Amino acid sequence: MDGRVITMKGPADFEKMAVAGACVAAVHAAVRAAAVPGVSMKELDAIANQVIREHDCRPSFLGYHGYPASICASPNSVIVHGIPDGYKLRNGDVLSIDAGAIYEGWHGDAAYTMAVGDVPDEVARLIDVTEQALWNGIAQAKAGKRLGDVGHAIESTAAPYGYGVVREYIGHGIGRNMHEAPNVPNYGKKGKGLKLKTGMALAIEPMFNLGGAETALLDDGWTVVTADGSLSAHFEHTVLLTEKGSVVSTLPEPKLVDA
Ligand code: MF3
Ligand code: CO
Repeated sequence: MDGRVITMKGPADFEKMAVAGACVAAVHAAVRAAAVPGVSMKELDAIANQVIREHDCRPSFLGYHGYPASICASPNSVIVHGIPDGYKLRNGDVLSIDAGAIYEGWHGDAAYTMAVGDVPDEVARLIDVTEQALWNGIAQAKAGKRLGDVGHAIESTAAPYGYGVVREYIGHGIGRNMHEAPNVPNYGKKGKGLKLKTGMALAIEPMFNLGGAETALLDDGWTVVTADGSLSAHFEHTVLLTEKGSVVSTLPEPKLVDA
């Protein structure tokens, strides 16, 4: 993620990122609807791949550093980058799905966590608070603000609940590549860090654990789990900093973030 910040040059570039973003939103809607007890991770991946192709996009994850699937499917104590396998969902599971699409060279990247069936209140709260942290981070992702404002908003959303805020995996710039400069940490100090400018695009992605923040990498080289086996939640959107304000691209319709 090193290197210079690549920016969108005008409406045509924004438009392509919006198409990629709408595709990712469609993937998420389809996978969410299909994620019921008995369905396997591989089946969800096949659905995602089909939706991406129906939108005339390409799956950005497939083949990325050798990654073998179109989505990441991360159940329970898997934080991120779970490879879709034969695991079948059970009532009470917590499932994180991450998806990315490319349209005419421009990227969209988003993730969410859902409860499969019934989960205890404390688990539902983890999911809700992680999503709220994403939106609190997005609210700071504006031209003139700094990356520390984004990270601080996310981190301070977790603080009252004592959740482990994952530090080893972070958000990123996005545009012509899935991962570009700058790094977008889920922690930081208000008023510190890179100043945000119109034309930038950021993938903001808090990961909160019910237990500690420590992570472990499984032998497959991809699957990131909580070191203590606790449950984890992950939410991500792609945010475009336009002249009219910041726009979340990875929704069915681009959403202007209120000033
Ligand atoms: N979308 C993930 C991210 O948010 C990256 C997925 S890694 C891949 O950064 F290998 F699955 F593509
Ligand atoms: Co991302």
